[in-house]
Amino acid sequence: MRDENFRPRVEGRSKVTGTARFVGDIRADVLGSSFDTAVVVTSTRSSGVVSHIDPSAALAVPGVKFVMTHENAPRLKKAFALANGEIGSFLPLQDNRIRYYGQCIAVVVAESLEAAQEGARLVAVTYGEVAEPRAYSLGTAASRLKFVKRAGIVPGKIAVGDALKDFDAAPVKIDLQFDVAPAHHNAIEPSAVIARWDPDGGITVHAAIQWHHSEALVLGQVFGLSAVDRLPGLLGRMMGGAQWSGKVRLVNAISGGSFGRNQNPVHMLLAAMAAKICDRAVKVVLSREQTYSLLSYRAQTRQRLRLGARVDGTVTTIVQDADVAKGTHGSFIEPVGEGAGKVYGQSSLLIRHRVAELDLNGAGWMRAPGVSVSFFALESSMDVLAHQLGVDPLDLRLRNYSELDQENKRAWTSKSLRRCYEAGAAAIGWRTRSKGGQLDENGRWVGFGMATSFHPNRQFPATARLSLRRDGTAEVALAIADMGQGIFTALTKIAAEALGLPRDSIILRTQDTDLPAGAGSFGSSATLSNGAAIVEAAAEIQKRLIESAVRDKASSLFGQSVANITVSDGQLAGVGGAKDSVAAVMGRHASGVITAKATTGRTLGYSKLSKGSFGAIFAQVSVDPITLRVRVEKLVGAFACGRIIDKTIAANQLAGGMIWGLGQALMEETQVDPRTGQWVNANLAEALIATNADVPPVDVILIDEDDTRFHSLGSKGLGEIGLVGPAPAIANAIFDATGKRLLSLPIRIEHLMGEKAVHPVPADFDKGG
Ligand code: MOS
Repeated sequence: MRDENFRPRVEGRSKVTGTARFVGDIRADVLGSSFDTAVVVTSTRSSGVVSHIDPSAALAVPGVKFVMTHENAPRLKKAFALANGEIGSFLPLQDNRIRYYGQCIAVVVAESLEAAQEGARLVAVTYGEVAEPRAYSLGTAASRLKFVKRAGIVPGKIAVGDALKDFDAAPVKIDLQFDVAPAHHNAIEPSAVIARWDPDGGITVHAAIQWHHSEALVLGQVFGLSAVDRLPGLLGRMMGGAQWSGKVRLVNAISGGSFGRNQNPVHMLLAAMAAKICDRAVKVVLSREQTYSLLSYRAQTRQRLRLGARVDGTVTTIVQDADVAKGTHGSFIEPVGEGAGKVYGQSSLLIRHRVAELDLNGAGWMRAPGVSVSFFALESSMDVLAHQLGVDPLDLRLRNYSELDQENKRAWTSKSLRRCYEAGAAAIGWRTRSKGGQLDENGRWVGFGMATSFHPNRQFPATARLSLRRDGTAEVALAIADMGQGIFTALTKIAAEALGLPRDSIILRTQDTDLPAGAGSFGSSATLSNGAAIVEAAAEIQKRLIESAVRDKASSLFGQSVANITVSDGQLAGVGGAKDSVAAVMGRHASGVITAKATTGRTLGYSKLSKGSFGAIFAQVSVDPITLRVRVEKLVGAFACGRIIDKTIAANQLAGGMIWGLGQALMEETQVDPRTGQWVNANLAEALIATNADVPPVDVILIDEDDTRFHSLGSKGLGEIGLVGPAPAIANAIFDATGKRLLSLPIRIEHLMGEKAVHPVPADFDKGG
């Protein structure tokens, strides 16, 4: 889909011509200094201690400068990791204990990458075995399950009415267990950091990250830099819109995907520690395999989902019990309960989370955290209910439609889900679809499935500084990160519209903590959070520009009323056809520049209304009766996400999420060796993701919506919602095609081979079975 005013992305040319610099590409000429290269050495055990580490063979390699281990590494101070990173509770190389397989145990620094790699291979490690109980999956961690007060951004328990009683009394009951395997982000960029200490005792770090100021905070804390580099200083400055003035400078180059993992990365600390020792800039590039244990991932989850309903299909109660894995370190817990109580009209609700700490590295944010997992269970259960009652799955959703957020009985700022259902159903031909299980022209069983899609909306604090200059161009300055989602282009467009300038007149300056603190790129919130600050600052600039024009005797707008003047496409227009150009007015402006700064989102988007984006996903699959291979033949997603800033970029994000959803349904799983705790398919050959050959036509439909009750831009979030719904829609389509109900992701051919594909809920689920 192309925007009517399609323009290539602002960074597009640099990416397709190869001039864009990812951190790993930065060489001495760009950095302005030479640097050493470091390679991380990781543990090949998940427990015990490093009892001895001998660097002598590594140090004998020509070019190797030193080997950093727990014995000689700089001591670090405790950090509060805003993004729930593992480094909030486990700092690298501070002791000899081994927490998990693939943990950093040494860093080899050399003049060249080749020497560092050779040295890393030669570091001799002696492990001390310690008999410690180890668990790497929920199946072996029953005794570790504990109810939690909070699961990340949601309460650990959400209760409305007496859901267990209502379930017992319900004439129709659905009670199923759903499993979702752990999976990694597999961003194409393996992630790199360059760190350099400045002569004044500050540090400059180049890293592919999602939120500059959050990472600056971590560095400031662990190295004990100064008061403003710690949490109160940082938050005070961000909320107050004050300029950052810490000793940490975070700069990032363009990043090659992220999806949640480039937050509080441990190798950022390793590069800074090594740079401190060698007193030179140090670059660390992780290997693909290391990204599995040194960066985060989506944790394994298991849910028991119960629906109580009347015989007409009215769902009266939802009970969701989620068991969530987490690493022993890091505070991140997958917020599975986010959303299951928000889309339908049930009168009672119970959501509970239990968490088991596994002896793995810390789990973390991964695109559509919580909801993508939760909706697999909810939307599969709705499909089971529909089939049990002989109601069309879409009609069942319509029967349970609610205008309110039933979790708290609040109204939505906007909810156009009904239109999503209609548009999606029309696009796939839902009402005229063939009956499931019939053979197509290739002799494969055909099936159709659908699911509701939802993602919560949030707004975070952001500051932007805009300067309109003598030549009529405007600089828009704020620290934000583009992981490939297109936010630089979206914000350029927002600034151009708000200032009334052509897009070419906008110069976006970003990716640097020396600039005002923008909101991070996460939570489907970055465009609207940062856009809000830009729009507010732009309004102030436009007001002062117009005031300047009407006071300017050389302008044909001189003496006109401010209220009658509009600015668009670089032109001011008043009454009676009077016109002047922004560049001409600015050319005669006394100081030649108008600057305004705005901070928005201080209330974190709090309001008495609920805020969310909605959608509907429809899937058509075919299943080969002999090989049982599943192919997704068509995927349709209709989404209502408020006003769309740029249709090309929006559709691209949504289609990307849907394709990921296809991968979540059929492929994505990082397998852990049950004996050692090692991620075994830690490479792009064996960690399966959807490739072009797997992806059918993907139809994205954008429903017209303008949600000014949520936000002055009228926009809602759309970065993640595409991944919510495809997995259950595909699983439901597989049921339609084969009669097999599959409740574990990813769905594999061997699961389709079983006689009885449904997993019964173990009797002891609530006791931790
Ligand atoms: Mo993303 S999982 O919102 O960083």
